[in-house]
Amino acid sequence: MSRILNIVERHTHHSSRRQHSMTMAIMRKGKQFRWQRKHLIGLRDLSAEEIHYILDTAQGFEQISTRSVKKAPPLRGKVVVNLFFEDSTRTRTSFALAASRLSADVVEFTMKNSSVSKGETLLDTARNLESMGVDIVVIRHNAAGAPKLLSRNINACVVNAGDGYCEHPTQALLDVYTIRQMKGSLEGLKIAIVGDISHSRVARSDMWAMTKLGAEVTLVGPPTLMPADVGRLPVNTSYSLDEVIEKVDVINMLRIQFERLGGNPFPSIREYSRYFGLTVERMQRAKPDIVVMHPGPINRGVEMESEVADGTNSVILRQVTNGLAVRMAVLFLVNQAAAETPA
Ligand code: CP
Repeated sequence: MSRILNIVERHTHHSSRRQHSMTMAIMRKGKQFRWQRKHLIGLRDLSAEEIHYILDTAQGFEQISTRSVKKAPPLRGKVVVNLFFEDSTRTRTSFALAASRLSADVVEFTMKNSSVSKGETLLDTARNLESMGVDIVVIRHNAAGAPKLLSRNINACVVNAGDGYCEHPTQALLDVYTIRQMKGSLEGLKIAIVGDISHSRVARSDMWAMTKLGAEVTLVGPPTLMPADVGRLPVNTSYSLDEVIEKVDVINMLRIQFERLGGNPFPSIREYSRYFGLTVERMQRAKPDIVVMHPGPINRGVEMESEVADGTNSVILRQVTNGLAVRMAVLFLVNQAAAETPA
């Protein structure tokens, strides 16, 4: 914890009241709490205290990205590999920048141009990379459970950047970070997560993070896009966006994952947008200070109209900005836990 405070203090140009109170909050928590996980696989098993600790740590890193020299030393000499078996714009770039801002060396691995195309397994690939001295593996894979499998079979830290329909923990962390920034706290907030819930790892991680931090979550979408186990999850469900739009403080519009849809879960895109799209008309019935979110990439005109995506209630680009600080915090904490774990 003192290392975080040193970083915060070394890199703080202006000792504003906000930064001071944030530092004090970290100190208070630090007295009772020590981060101990060298892997971040999902949020289902994390406590509210652990989630807050990541968010507080991210707050300490936030201002590094606003300085003219966007670098801090905590991962100097460490190697982070971005092991992405699926496409990504935001998560991949954000992890690369986060690692680089903490002075790590970053290796970009793509399936194309690698020996995976010759049949090499995930574990063999990871073990070969580890043999070259990799300290942290950031993995995105279309198979749920791939990050967990790696964490059990290699010594490096493993961070899940999205696995199948299972979890996308850093997306959910940046989502709750953004909500906390906008609303002060998630306690008692009403949050709707709308759309293609069944194919969404973001919805799952969001649901765990948001409910653990005290929000009331409603999943909204057509019955054909609800997960089979929805009745066992700590959420409400609704099949009508019109029923919930006036009540919620935050709305997170999910991307329709056309590449994963099987069968015909809704009659047409136009029909989907009519019932589940966030339109200017629906926004006129929402609370004036509703926070509009989307994890990206957006299908404009499907999940939401462009006027809403680019409107004053939208925090979509703020989410992307916050992702950097959150991922810096995650890389920093898993590395710290690894340093403190006996080999
Ligand atoms: N939100 C998200 O995971 O975006 P990318 O697929 O571009 O990483």
